[in-house]
Amino acid sequence: MRDRLEELAEEGLAALGSAATEEDLRRVEQDYLGRHGRITAVLRQLGGLPPAERPAVGRLANEIKERLARELEARLEILRRSRLEAELAGEGFDPTLPGPPARAGSLHPIERVRRELEDLFRSMGYAVAGGPEVETEEHNFDALNIPPDHPAREGHDTLWIEGGDRERLCMRTHTSPVQVRALRRHGVPLRVVAPGRVFRQETQDATHDHTFHQMEGLVVDRGVGVPHMLHAMRSLLSGLFGRELQTRLRPGYFPFVEPGFELDARCPFCKSGCSVCKGSTWIELMPGGLVHPEVLRASGVDPEDYSGFAFGLGLSRIAMLRYGIDDIRWMMSGDLRFLEQFDA
Ligand code: PHE
Repeated sequence: MRDRLEELAEEGLAALGSAATEEDLRRVEQDYLGRHGRITAVLRQLGGLPPAERPAVGRLANEIKERLARELEARLEILRRSRLEAELAGEGFDPTLPGPPARAGSLHPIERVRRELEDLFRSMGYAVAGGPEVETEEHNFDALNIPPDHPAREGHDTLWIEGGDRERLCMRTHTSPVQVRALRRHGVPLRVVAPGRVFRQETQDATHDHTFHQMEGLVVDRGVGVPHMLHAMRSLLSGLFGRELQTRLRPGYFPFVEPGFELDARCPFCKSGCSVCKGSTWIELMPGGLVHPEVLRASGVDPEDYSGFAFGLGLSRIAMLRYGIDDIRWMMSGDLRFLEQFDA
């Protein structure tokens, strides 16, 4: 039986050597290595051998199969190469043919809303400002009239950064520190929006994530008051929803504004209560207020001369409303099944 196997190996190698096409090669493969091939046929008789001899013969058969398989691969590769060379050299290859189409990406829903709002505010004379995501304690809290022992700090579950040698550093918990940065840098009068990522140590659920997006608005000039703030907020809303929504102001508390407000809008999706407005027909959209004199002072602006308003828009939340996304965790998931739904 060993001899028969060796013979088959010789024959098989010779057959592979004389095969001229891929088809020929595949036929030899079937003939020798296939389930009904010659080597298998020999192996079927293994049972007729004395038990002591079986393992050695089995091993030999496997080794021969491998040898043939290796030779087959090598021959296939040679054929492939020469076909490619012939194509490249001859008429068969047309380098001007288009390749497979590249898949176009799409804009993330937050990115879309951000761009739209930036365009809207630019058209109203605002500049776009920014600041770092790793922020100093001074910008994120102190200059915003939130001293260390202030209870408002507890509302911001802050991710502190270890090892800032001169100043305490944190992941910014809101975009409001950009108010201070922009004022210190550019002075007054000033009109800016500042979109960006913010971070909080939150337990994730459908409406909370540790990373989300906000957009800060800030206007400081002589004689700026609540009506100016309302106008800016309302323009923003009609820009977003394509029509005027009825709004209402409630008092709201933030240490860096005085007075402070919460702006609600009539639910854009229903008349009598739905799951988005939780049956109330109002949705809480945006906090804001007049910039606190202490914040102006800390930013190098004289509050006797100048006043301003600020608002903070939750970009993540707006994008969710806009596109009917019911779980904020999709936003940062990077899941293509989610992202592909926003193809242009
Ligand atoms: N920074 C506040 C927050 O993240 C929102 C805010 C911005 C409130 C501007 C008032 C004015 O909770």
